[in-house]
Amino acid sequence: MSGRSLECELDAQECVRHSAPRLATRATITAGTSAMTRNITLTINGRKRTDAVEPRMLLIHYLREEVGLTGPHIACETSLCGACTVHLDGKAIKSCTMFAVQADGREVLTIEGLAADGKLDPMQEAFWNEHGLQCGFCTPGMIMTAKQIIERNPKPTDEEIRHGLEGNLCRCTGYQHIVNAVRTAAGK
Ligand code: FES
Ligand code: FES
Repeated sequence: MSGRSLECELDAQECVRHSAPRLATRATITAGTSAMTRNITLTINGRKRTDAVEPRMLLIHYLREEVGLTGPHIACETSLCGACTVHLDGKAIKSCTMFAVQADGREVLTIEGLAADGKLDPMQEAFWNEHGLQCGFCTPGMIMTAKQIIERNPKPTDEEIRHGLEGNLCRCTGYQHIVNAVRTAAGK
């Protein structure tokens, strides 16, 4: 199995970008009732929680502003950079491409949920050891995507790793150290 890039893992029904006209219509309808909220219940990093959110709130904003998980970053907000990548029901997705209400009843894993008992996840450790980061801005998204790459393909080639990371941008590293990190984690 080859690596798979994360240009957009969501299907057309879920992705805000794919279904922009339909969702824009819905947003217009709710625009006049900005106080309107909807209760959503998600399991985030193993913990269930319920919050009242506006239907127009993006999942990335919900995670950062309501839940307080600032590991997933916001950069482009147009599904290009991958900084906001989290896992939804075990699949890496860009959390700026869907509304929080679309995640109702589902499981979200963020970078904060990877380390356990004070021990880094092997992918985090590999990024650390292989110098897979500089400023670190892209790193949470890179790691969440990288985990999916090796879940789908436990022994990826460098080419497959690069292909799998196509949807995640890094301005600092030149990517080689990131590829090394993913290869190292895959070898464990
Ligand atoms: Fe989501 Fe850039 S902020 S892809
Ligand atoms: Fe700076 Fe990737 S380490 S953007």
